[in-house]
Amino acid sequence: MSGTTGPEGRGVIVTGAGSGIGRATALRFASLGDKVLVADINATGAEAVVKEIEANGGTARAVIGDLSDQHIVDEVVTTAVESFGDLAVLVNNAGIMDTMTATADVSDAEWERVIRINLTAPFLLTRAALPHLLARGNGAIVNTASAAALRGSAAGTAYTVSKHGIVGLTKSTAVMYRDRGIRVNAIAPGGTQTAITDSITYDGDGAATIGRYRANVGRMGAAEEAAAAIVFLASDAASNINGVVLPVDNGWSAV
Ligand SMILES: NC(=O)c1ccc[n+]([C@@H]2O[C@H](COP(=O)([O-])OP(=O)(O)OC[C@H]3O[C@@H](n4cnc5c(N)ncnc54)[C@H](O)[C@@H]3O)[C@@H](O)[C@H]2O)c1
Repeated sequence: MSGTTGPEGRGVIVTGAGSGIGRATALRFASLGDKVLVADINATGAEAVVKEIEANGGTARAVIGDLSDQHIVDEVVTTAVESFGDLAVLVNNAGIMDTMTATADVSDAEWERVIRINLTAPFLLTRAALPHLLARGNGAIVNTASAAALRGSAAGTAYTVSKHGIVGLTKSTAVMYRDRGIRVNAIAPGGTQTAITDSITYDGDGAATIGRYRANVGRMGAAEEAAAAIVFLASDAASNINGVVLPVDNGWSAV
């Protein structure tokens, strides 16, 4: 048993917790008694979530900044450890969409920005958090991948590559540390109603992508449905689940 849960009160980091799936995840952990480090580049969103958790009697702290910056990553991990005296769970959830751009049209700027925020930042956070999880003797990491981690028709090239990369990060880390009490899993949400889906724009050949996306995605999920899967994977109820990518997509991956 990995022993990361119950009685609750664990130190938990949730990135991108100022909005959408991350916000719902932070609130759910807090409702179980966990202490939540809310990490986001959006100060207004992050501080509102901290206030909401505290108003409900919970414990939370915010760290504001770009998680692709090593200094912010270090601040996130240090603040969690120093404020809560514990770091048991890391949820790498912050992410950005691309513009559904097809390969030949992806600019250097889009490629670098999407890969850095969606893939490099989770690697930096995982690397920084692992020594604390290992020192604790157990811990869980949950990464928010995407339907685009499983297929080529859910987003543009940059986003699709970044989310396939998250699967590699998840599986490699799971295997490397499974004998030392660490579990690493991912969720692959389908279309989920959040700010990201509201903001999607489509460039060039990506227009063909949206046709397939709209045809197959089915109903939009709620952020709370993705959050429930994340909190489950971080709990002892998932003690023998390691290295999986769990679709949360109303069957889209089965289409
Ligand atoms: N909504 C969907 O349909 C869907 C589907 C599959 C996967 N996802 C993934 O779910 C995750 C959460 O997205 P969401 O749908 O809740 O969207 P969202 O836009 O509501 O939330 C994303 C959060 O990440 C934060 N963020 C973005 N870049 C950041 C950075 N560099 N540093 C720190 N914080 C940053 C944003 O400020 C925002 O609060 C993302 O990784 C996304 O790729 C979403």
